[in-house]
Amino acid sequence: MTEKMPVNFTVNGDKEEREAVVGQTLLKFIRDELHLTGAKEGCEIGECGACIVLLDGKPVNSCLILAVELDGKDLVTIEGLSKNGELDRVQKAFIKHAAFQCGYCTPGMILSARALLERKPNPTDEDINQALSGNLCRCGAYQEIREAIKASSEK
Ligand code: FES
Ligand code: FES
Repeated sequence: MTEKMPVNFTVNGDKEEREAVVGQTLLKFIRDELHLTGAKEGCEIGECGACIVLLDGKPVNSCLILAVELDGKDLVTIEGLSKNGELDRVQKAFIKHAAFQCGYCTPGMILSARALLERKPNPTDEDINQALSGNLCRCGAYQEIREAIKASSEK
């Protein structure tokens, strides 16, 4: 029989009480149980950053975390950034600067950028490079991504 455990958490501002299969990854739980499909399945071994979400404000590879670890935490996925149908400033800047091609890496990139801008409202190029070091873009849109993040900074 599949063993499950209760998990109480907040997702994109809403409180949730669910059961998670023991051994299931947070990525699978988010996509299959919460039906939030913005976090993408890429390498599933912690190397590409396509699955990044914010857990208690920190970017994490959800493919490397168990769903049961969500208990008591605050989860933000890419679906939680827009408010009342309005995209947030990083999302808008990505569109304005054409900072994607296929878009597969984009949710993870944007959430890594959000976490950086929370910590450092005016990041340097080096800060941006470091913050995105766990995010791969197979389309090579790095220059535009950096420009979009710069444009979203506070100055
Ligand atoms: S799918 Fe999680 S890091 Fe690649
Ligand atoms: S836009 Fe295609 S992987 Fe980054």
